[in-house]
Amino acid sequence: MAVWHPNTQMSEWAGLPEVASARGMWLRLSDGSRLLDGVASMWCNVWGHSEPRLVRALASQARVLQHAPLFNLTHRPAEELARGIVSFSPGMERVFYSDNGSSAVEVALKMALQHAQASGTGARRIASLENGYHGDTAGAMSAGFMPGFFARYRGLAFRAVRLPSPDGYRTPRSMTHADHAQRCLEKAEARLSRGDVAALVMESGAQVAGGARVYPPRFQRSLGRICRRNGVLLIVDEVATGLGRLGSMAEYHAQGCRPDIACYGKMLAGGYATIAATAATGRIYRAFLGAFGDKRHLFHGHTFTGNPLAAALAVENLAMYRERRLLRHVRGMASELARLAGGLRGIPLVGDVRCAGLLAGIELVRDRARKAPVEPPVSANRIIFEAGRRRGVYLRTLGSVVLLVPPLAMGPGDLRTLVERAGGAISDAAPALLGRVDARRYLRGRG
Ligand SMILES: Cc1ncc(COP(=O)(O)O)c(C=O)c1O
Repeated sequence: MAVWHPNTQMSEWAGLPEVASARGMWLRLSDGSRLLDGVASMWCNVWGHSEPRLVRALASQARVLQHAPLFNLTHRPAEELARGIVSFSPGMERVFYSDNGSSAVEVALKMALQHAQASGTGARRIASLENGYHGDTAGAMSAGFMPGFFARYRGLAFRAVRLPSPDGYRTPRSMTHADHAQRCLEKAEARLSRGDVAALVMESGAQVAGGARVYPPRFQRSLGRICRRNGVLLIVDEVATGLGRLGSMAEYHAQGCRPDIACYGKMLAGGYATIAATAATGRIYRAFLGAFGDKRHLFHGHTFTGNPLAAALAVENLAMYRERRLLRHVRGMASELARLAGGLRGIPLVGDVRCAGLLAGIELVRDRARKAPVEPPVSANRIIFEAGRRRGVYLRTLGSVVLLVPPLAMGPGDLRTLVERAGGAISDAAPALLGRVDARRYLRGRG
């Protein structure tokens, strides 16, 4: 095997299971076994796998135009998709394409900094929320600097202003969750009023990689207002939570806030091809206009920016959202997921269950009273993945939080199977996670 896998301690794996094909909500491995896709293939799959309409859209675009750059040229799929994105993104007028969510955030940061220069404010710093995550490239990593992920690359990162974010599970004892959120807002206002911050970047609705932390009501809206009052641009990162994950196309709209820039990725092409978008208001866009010699244009562009195969898939995907009333389905399934996942609280290892839309975070603790996370000698992800594999479900954890992020079109039967199997996997894995059996023996099937 020659592949170096992402965010993976390779020594924990003797070999990785090989996916041979996938259909509907199921991945089929080369040994003939099947795994229910509990993480929507890293939170991007919408309709399940091998959806005939998307496959046809890909094939018919492939017959006509596979790639043409957006440098000096344009093409129908890119134009049509940009109109679609603008139509569901209140306030946005222009769409800049890239290939992945991290790049969409990088672009947004560059837009914000250059906008600040053009407006002569002198503000140069980027602010973000604690536990916020925005991708793995240098700028996105700096904005979402979680030491647990990125400590090794501190030398590569710029220093973002990290503002506190409310934590419903570990709220200080003396405070209610609402008081804590209010305290965070007061601190944000005090910091953003200093005049040195060009933009605040935040995930919309919930912090996903940071452990499925759902914002309290009105928190995002209030932060947006604080930004406005203090002349700070607001960048919303919709990469994980937009496009229906929490039940709305533009989650920022559901949260009642009016950002200057919005980033989309992951589910844009249904999870079948890589494309991301950074949408900006007309005010931002116009700040980049001028004579060529003024050097006001956006200095950014990738070879595959707006690739026609991915863009055509995305156009078809968005049409299916409308025709199949996907958001209505998501909202219905969201209450079902919350109900089912809530039932996992009965497992002694489960400290907290947090849900929003079709996202559930199940936090595993070794001591409920102290809320101390599990700390096995190999990664919790490796153990949980193995336990899930034995029960026929594909799971991935972030730290000690098991994330359930099903494809948006998953129906009630598969959803029930997913939660039951995830609960079973957590229970099976408990002795290894708590160090009561040797985790390495467990992984070899002997624990
Ligand atoms: C909120 C958020 N922003 C950005 C990214 C980065 O996206 P990508 O992995 O496509 O670069 C992610 C990825 O999980 C994310 O959750």
